[in-house]
Amino acid sequence: MDFINELFSLKNKLAVVIGGGGVLAGKMAEGLAKAGADIVVLDLNFENAKRQSQAIAEFGVKTSAIKVDASKKQQMDTAATEIIDQFGRVDILINAPGINSATPFFEITKSEWEKIISVNLKSMFLACQIFGRQMIEQGGGGSIINISSASSGPPLSRVFTYSISKAGVNNLTQYLARELAPYKIRVNAIAPGFFPAEQNRKILTKQRIDAIFDHTPMARFGEPDELIGAVIWLAAEPASSFVTGAVIRVDGGFTAMTI
Ligand SMILES: NC(=O)c1ccc[n+]([C@@H]2O[C@H](COP(=O)([O-])OP(=O)(O)OC[C@H]3O[C@@H](n4cnc5c(N)ncnc54)[C@H](O)[C@@H]3O)[C@@H](O)[C@H]2O)c1
Repeated sequence: MDFINELFSLKNKLAVVIGGGGVLAGKMAEGLAKAGADIVVLDLNFENAKRQSQAIAEFGVKTSAIKVDASKKQQMDTAATEIIDQFGRVDILINAPGINSATPFFEITKSEWEKIISVNLKSMFLACQIFGRQMIEQGGGGSIINISSASSGPPLSRVFTYSISKAGVNNLTQYLARELAPYKIRVNAIAPGFFPAEQNRKILTKQRIDAIFDHTPMARFGEPDELIGAVIWLAAEPASSFVTGAVIRVDGGFTAMTI
């Protein structure tokens, strides 16, 4: 077990989990806490963020919750200041706020387009800038993990703006991997396949679920727990110390499927 601990332990690391009040990032936060990391949960939904933070406290790590609209720079700056005042540093950033919509292409309004791009892509850009700068200033490296999607390309039907935003997340990840490598800050993405959650509840109709299962070699949804291994691996050094710019697909084979 010492060998596994040396590879994967996150003891004395501070992880900021944005969107951590949600289904997937909430589980990721729990996984990081079980691996020893202290956790700050950021979410627009403060009740869920607080509940998640309380659940994490059970694992004996330090934790707190902050309400933030991650697409608003001023709120993010304030949250970052609060985190540094309280914890002194940030070692791991999980970027996971996300919203979705199945509006047909010709009915997408400017405001819907701006809202989805704002939450899914601009939020991640802002967080990478704010916490990336903090990681550079404090020294010692870091790990940024952006949550992409199987829809980042080729895009899924019906979720146009969402897919564009996630393609942008992959591009942001690769760009920053290059820019931050000299500082030993690694930037990777996880692209989940299909996991029932709040943001996709309305989109997962019976017909769509059948289509998804037909196109998934494992013929089922993912369980949120099944993302934890990938998150801990990408967060931990030396486990993934030479991994940057990668988009890790956790999708039951969905993106490998043809006929
Ligand atoms: N569930 C899936 O099948 C799936 C698949 C691929 C990718 N993803 C991605 O995983 C991430 C987590 O999604 P989820 O499925 O757990 O959904 P979720 O709805 O449970 O979680 C999303 C969280 O983001 C928060 N949020 C929304 N707007 C915000 C904002 N402006 N500022 C701060 N927080 C905000 C919500 O309050 C919520 O807690 C998203 O980026 C999503 O696109 C999910």
